[in-house]
Amino acid sequence: MSADIDTIMKKYRSGKREDMIPLLQEIQDENGYLSEEIIVKIGRFTGLSTTKIYGLATFYDQFRFFPAGRITIKICHGTSCFLNGSQAVINKIREETGLVSGQTSRDGLLSYEIVTCMGGCNHGPLINVNGNYYPGVKPEQIPELLGKLRYILESD
Ligand code: FES
Repeated sequence: MSADIDTIMKKYRSGKREDMIPLLQEIQDENGYLSEEIIVKIGRFTGLSTTKIYGLATFYDQFRFFPAGRITIKICHGTSCFLNGSQAVINKIREETGLVSGQTSRDGLLSYEIVTCMGGCNHGPLINVNGNYYPGVKPEQIPELLGKLRYILESD
């Protein structure tokens, strides 16, 4: 485990529940995801059980517990995107990939995350694929998008 994670933990006070989310966020930014080893370490530092930490982290969409795949699809489920139909797109992604938010496909190629607001609220539902934005996505466009992504991955 990286020494940077120890450095991050030292910035927070042990045992303070209100520090947990920023602590988890910063560690995820550093490591890319929250591994079991990291959760155990955070548990030792905070005095909270790993069950409590998982319970807290799984309540929020932004935390992931597996390394990201080569391609990460993020879909916004913020208020504006929700009103523009993001739930139907989320359902379609789930149906097509079998993944729930925060999961990576078994082959390690594809990750999928539900996020809250990516700053393009007038263009929802908004999807981001490895940094590229796709505005106004409709559920019926998802199979084609996934097909293109599979093609890119297979031809690499
Ligand atoms: S609510 Fe989706 S980008 Fe802001």
